[in-house]
Parts: sequence; C-alpha cells; structure tokens
Amino acid sequence: MGGGGGTVKSLTCKFVFLLVTLLILRALLVPPSPGFGGVVEWSNFVYIRNHSPSFGIGVRQDKFLEVPQIVWGLNNQKIAFARACLTARRMNRILLMPSLSASLFYKEINLLQPISFDKVFQFDKFNQLCSGFVQLGQYSDLSNQTRVLEMQKGSGRKWTLERDLDQLREHSKGEFDEHEVIRIVGKNPFLWHDHWPVKDYAKVFECLVLIDEIGQEADRVVSRIRAVGRETQSNSESMELDNNDSSSFQPLPYVAVHMRVEIDWMIHCKKLEQRLNTNQICSSKKEIMERVSNIKGLKTPSVVYLAVADKLLQNSSVLEGWEEGFLPYEKNKLGVDGIYKKYPYLIQSAIDYEVCLRADIFVGNSFSTFSTLIVLERTQKMITMGINMCGKDVRWPSYAYNIQQGESNGPMRWVTNMSHSTLQEISYGTNHIISC
Ligand SMILES: *[C@@H]1O[C@H](CO)[C@@H](O)[C@H](O)[C@H]1NC(C)=O
Ligand SMILES: *[C@@H]1O[C@H](CO)[C@@H](O)[C@H](O)[C@H]1NC(C)=O
Ligand SMILES: *[C@@H]1O[C@H](CO)[C@@H](O)[C@H](O)[C@H]1NC(C)=O
Ligand SMILES: *[C@@H]1O[C@H](CO)[C@@H](O)[C@H](O)[C@H]1NC(C)=O
Repeated sequence: MGGGGGTVKSLTCKFVFLLVTLLILRALLVPPSPGFGGVVEWSNFVYIRNHSPSFGIGVRQDKFLEVPQIVWGLNNQKIAFARACLTARRMNRILLMPSLSASLFYKEINLLQPISFDKVFQFDKFNQLCSGFVQLGQYSDLSNQTRVLEMQKGSGRKWTLERDLDQLREHSKGEFDEHEVIRIVGKNPFLWHDHWPVKDYAKVFECLVLIDEIGQEADRVVSRIRAVGRETQSNSESMELDNNDSSSFQPLPYVAVHMRVEIDWMIHCKKLEQRLNTNQICSSKKEIMERVSNIKGLKTPSVVYLAVADKLLQNSSVLEGWEEGFLPYEKNKLGVDGIYKKYPYLIQSAIDYEVCLRADIFVGNSFSTFSTLIVLERTQKMITMGINMCGKDVRWPSYAYNIQQGESNGPMRWVTNMSHSTLQEISYGTNHIISC
C-alpha cells in the first residue's frame, strides 16, 4: 500500500469527519419529525417542501388584479382561484385577496355567503410558499382606489381561447398596464379560458394550507380514523397472541374512498356514459366495494373511510356489504359528524378533502373533479418528495374505481400526468389516466 494508502486513509478520515459534522448539523437544524418510523403524516410534508422556488423575478409590487367573488363547489372554487392567480401571474400583478363562497346555492346570488379567503386558507403561508410565483395582496395595500380599469371578460362560443389570450396580452402593456388595479368583470369566472399547464395549477394548490382551526378539525377526523384502526389492530393481535412492541408503533393504514353514488351524480354520469359511449364512468356501490377489496397488496383488517355527500349520511347502506376485513366508516359511525355540522358547506368539504388527501390509499372516480384534484395533489406531493410513483412500495397510491386494472377486478392505479398543457385534460373527467 505504502504512501498512497496513507493519503487515501487521511482522505477517508476527512470525509468521515465531514459526514459526521454534517449529520450533527442536520440533527441540530432539522426539527424531529413526529411521523418518523411510522406513517409519515401529510402535515410534516408542509415543512419539508421547497421554500425557495426561484421562478425568475418576483411579482411587481405596485400593480393589482381584482376578481369577482369565487363561487360553486370546493373544487370549482379551488380551480377558479388558481385561474385567478395564474391570470394575475400572466399580467405580473398581485391578486387582491378574493372572496370565496361558503354555501353552494350558486343559483341565487344573494345566498352566496361570501367568505374571505383567509377564513379558510392561510394568507401569509400562501405568499410564503408561492413566493416569486404568485402573490396575494390586501385592499389596504392600494395607494389610490380610484385608478381602476375594468376588464370585461367575454363569454359564449365566440369568446375563444385566442381572444381571451389577446385580451390578457393587450391589458399587460402600455396605457392599460399603468392602472394600479385591473378589475375583471363578467359572469362565471369558472368558464374563463384556460391557458395554463397542469403543473402551474399544482404549484398553486400546494400553497393552499388550511387555517389552523380547520386544519385541526381535519386532524381530529384523521385521529379518529387512526384510533379505530389501532383498536382493531390490538384486538386482532391479542387474539393471535402476537402482541409485540414493534407493531404498536405502526398505525393501521386507512383507505379513503370518494364514493360518488348520489342520485344527481348517477343521472349525470349515465348521460355522460351514453355520450362518450363507455361504461367506465358510473360505478355502483357494489362495484366500488369489489374493486376496493381487490387492491393489490392491501392488507386487512383495513379501515375504509367513505367520503360521501351529506345527503347520503342518513342512509347507512353504503356501510353494508363490505367484505370481511374491511371496516367501513363514514362521519356518523366515526362520531365526527358534530365536527362537520359546525361549519358551512365549503369548510365541510375542505375537511373531507384533507382527510382524503392524507389517506394512505385514496380511491376515487376519474370523472369526479373532487377525486381528480386530490390525485393531482397526491401526485405533486410524491414528486416534491422524490418518491418513485410507480415503485413497488409506493407510499400514497391512488386508484380510480371506475376503471378496471387489467384482468383483476381491482381499481386502476392513478397518477396525474403533470405534462398536460391545460387543466381541461383532467378536470372534466377522463378515463385516460396514467397508471403504473
Ligand atoms: C387617484 O387617481 C386619480 C385618477 O388617476 C387622480 O385624479 C387622483 O388625484 C389620485 N389621488 C391620489 C391621492 O393620488
Ligand atoms: C414481533 O413481531 C414480528 C412480526 O410479527 C415477529 O417476527 C417477531 O418474532 C415478534 N417478536 C416477539 C418478541 O414476539
Ligand atoms: C338507502 O339506499 C338504498 C339504495 O340506494 C335504498 O334501497 C334504501 O331504501 C335506502 N334506505 C333508507 C333508510 O333510506
Ligand atoms: C402525458 O401528457 C402528455 C401531454 O399531453 C402526453 O404527450 C403524454 O403522452 C402523456 N403521458 C402519458 C404516460 O400518458
């Protein structure tokens, strides 16, 4: 070996020393994660993700965009909000914090119950996470409220993608651009033409963090689901006399199933099936149960959380007929309906959304926007964490129960194709989903 070996040895020593130093530094600087060794909770992820997205220069600080109240269901509101953000980004303006709608009665304007964005999502957190990409502002940031230019959005067939884009371009330069505030007017902002790729939407959704009060309600629901799992687990373990410590730290995974079986959906989806000449949209309760029970590698007993619309809560039939080993729960049976009842529609929906987002396994319908957005966010989460989405031990798999996977009667594995150039490709329902 001789002298050369000595150099290698001292180099190795230096390297080991450096590594140890780095590990110590890391241990000091990175807060311990409560999920370590167990199931990594969604909430930890918020702190792990990239805090310094560099998307070129930041947003101009003295120009603003104002949009009308954002309406309809939670999914539509999330999408419309993201569109408003991306429109502001396109015009290099700060988006004045919009009002969302707490109720679903969108047909009567006076029942829309405006609710400020920051009563649902964290305002500062949003700007921190989306820093340099999009920015929300307050009306108090304005210097002169009279310098407002109204920008009338068109509607109908004649209002094409090109016309909409031309309008945005035109209003981003010259005299138009000098106005401190551009106010978008027109009805149905949800129907605006869409110029932004799926990954931009994913980026905006990533910055939406529920305010503490609502986040804690979601925590309570998730804890209840996990507690039910633990009880089941300790029962079955004591029966098998296999009660040892290592397993009591592993919470039982839970499956969240977004069951779209309500009557209004059934009417809508039957029409859609006829129009698209397919039978892969409407799934009956029986089919959903079968597909879920055939998820490959899913161990039983397993707690199944059923996210169903309120109307169905009175009818416990969704809880019946599950195969042995599957423990179905909805809000009532879980004893958490009181948590939901305190809140208006939008918040209830946001809690359910969060519970599905955090589930170890999510199963939804690829024609439902609610399911689609959940899978989009779960996919984004895996990308951000560098998880191989099609690996064998994938951590947060999602499935579409309306599509059969190969020969088995299981549901299709489902990840969002982030390369799509418009959200439209995924948001109006599709059975062209990426699988593994
Ligand atoms: C606000 O803008 C209007 C119109 O441009 C102008 O006439 C007015 O003097 C401005 N007021 C202030 C306080 O700058
Ligand atoms: C603990 O459980 C594991 C997995 O079930 C088993 O392999 C192991 O033998 C158990 N240990 C004891 C001490 O019972
Ligand atoms: C529950 O729904 C099932 C099927 O949708 C129906 O047959 C049953 O009568 C309903 N039960 C109640 C109590 O409404
Ligand atoms: C993802 O979307 C892009 C753009 O629409 C398309 O070219 C590609 O084939 C899709 N990938 C898969 C695996 O479907």
